[in-house]
Amino acid sequence: MAFRMSVFLDTLENRPTSRRPVWFMRQAGRYLPDYRRVRAEAGDFLSLCADAERSAEVTCQPVEILGVDAGIIFSDILTIPMSLGMDLELIEGTGPVFPKPLTGPDDCAGDRPEYLEQTYAAIRLASNRLGDTPLIGFCGSPWTLLAYMVEGRGSKTFSKAKTFLAERPAEAREILDRLTDSCIRHLKAQVAAGCQAVQIFDTWGGLLDPADFALFDRPDLERLAGALEGDGVPTTVFCKGVSDWGALANLPARCLGVDWSWNLGDVRTLVGPDKILQGNLDPASLCGPVGAMETKLRALIEAHGPEGRHIINLGHGVTPDARVETVRAFVTRAQQLSAEMMAGREA
Ligand code: CP3
Repeated sequence: MAFRMSVFLDTLENRPTSRRPVWFMRQAGRYLPDYRRVRAEAGDFLSLCADAERSAEVTCQPVEILGVDAGIIFSDILTIPMSLGMDLELIEGTGPVFPKPLTGPDDCAGDRPEYLEQTYAAIRLASNRLGDTPLIGFCGSPWTLLAYMVEGRGSKTFSKAKTFLAERPAEAREILDRLTDSCIRHLKAQVAAGCQAVQIFDTWGGLLDPADFALFDRPDLERLAGALEGDGVPTTVFCKGVSDWGALANLPARCLGVDWSWNLGDVRTLVGPDKILQGNLDPASLCGPVGAMETKLRALIEAHGPEGRHIINLGHGVTPDARVETVRAFVTRAQQLSAEMMAGREA
């Protein structure tokens, strides 16, 4: 792994920094006119994911336009089910849809590596172009992928996916193990191609009750994070809606994402001093004026306190209606305010 001067990697390695790093989940996306232009050139979202040059281009845009401290490779968590044989369509207004949702292990027993190889090619291109700015690789958590595969599309309750767990626990476990193996291979290949850190998006982990979380989510997060951290790769687990911070604190991941429903200082108390925390501004704060966003940002930085081990981010992804001006101001103000606070000055 090439050495890069980076406040983001220094924070993940527990080296002293003069300020906190900042980046956004979903930082490459529709709120950016530059993204919309490249997506239109590609045709649609899935064609963009399959186009290494354009994926690299939109990966670099937030770093070059906004000045964030890390890039995240442009792709989607659903490329893993595609690589296992499930066809995906993007329906405008609905989002990604599997026209034939998963009914059992045979529906995801395929091997189509070509759905992932473009991502590695994009990583090689983006990593070269970003120079000292690190690049984050990612995957979905096996439960979050299974939920989408069974449901076929996004859902508020994921009751079809939960019913699958209840009625066919052994098949669910078989599929989760297969997804975990694929995700480990995928994250390691992203690191080999040039990513310096990885993040696991467990977007629907918080929908599971504690017993199901213990059976159908936590063991796979543990195996996945352990495989990457075992190689020395800084790993972040973002589990949206989680309430059992004790279970997350025990995962072998050095960094935990926090959604916006939490006070960061309270999460720090719950997980102890060692974990790095990432988050957690409400993404809606980027849809309004700079002044209101700044009030929330200052409160967020103060909630965590002056010590390091915090990566400034949102509590979920940037939304398409975010105002570019507010997003841009967030980056510069987060960098300034955290530097003032860490220097012990009045923020
Ligand atoms: O963070 C980044 O900038 C990297 C790119 C990235 C995308 N999706 C691009 C994308 C990442 C990390 C993801 C992860 C992802 N994808 C998750 C987990 C994180 C989360 O946001 O909860 C999930 C659940 C998915 C599945 C998915 N992909 C959904 C539900 C949707 C539709 C919702 C939406 O925002 O439109 C997508 C499409 C998608 N993935 C878009 C982008 C930029 C929008 C596509 C477009 O350009 O129209």
